[in-house]
Amino acid sequence: MPLLPRAMPAVWTMLTVLAVIGLPRSVVAQPVPNTAEAGKKLAEQYCVTCHVITPSATKGWTDAPTFAAIANRPGVTAAQLSAVAQKPHMNMLNDRRPKDEADAMATYILSLRRH
Ligand code: HEC
Repeated sequence: MPLLPRAMPAVWTMLTVLAVIGLPRSVVAQPVPNTAEAGKKLAEQYCVTCHVITPSATKGWTDAPTFAAIANRPGVTAAQLSAVAQKPHMNMLNDRRPKDEADAMATYILSLRRH
């Protein structure tokens, strides 16, 4: 197998990259950037089971308000939304998220606001 030894480093690099990506955030401890893009990804991970998180999607399985509806409530602020995401709600069925993630999701929700 003359090809295999040369192919191995590439394989290990790939496995290492996958392992690092797959590590729990607490181990990697990279703060999430406070951008709508990062917030959308997190919402797709943690909130989409209950909330409709994009304006175009159809209704979810709970009566959770859509993120677009939340964004368009009068007087809503990023701090307020971030605080909600940092606490459990809906009978604690959803995870509480760390502040950096909550801030990013708040930024995403507010990006859905119709101006
Ligand atoms: C298990 C289902 C469920 C999950 C998961 C969930 N939510 Fe909710 N959420 C609800 C329901 C139901 C409501 C409306 C009733 C309430 O406020 O408890 C709600 C309300 C909200 C509100 C409005 C609260 C207010 O002040 O009226 C915000 C903001 C919100 N959710 C954000 C999020 C974010 C961000 C995530 C992801 C981290 C998330 N939710 C995940 C079910 C869920």
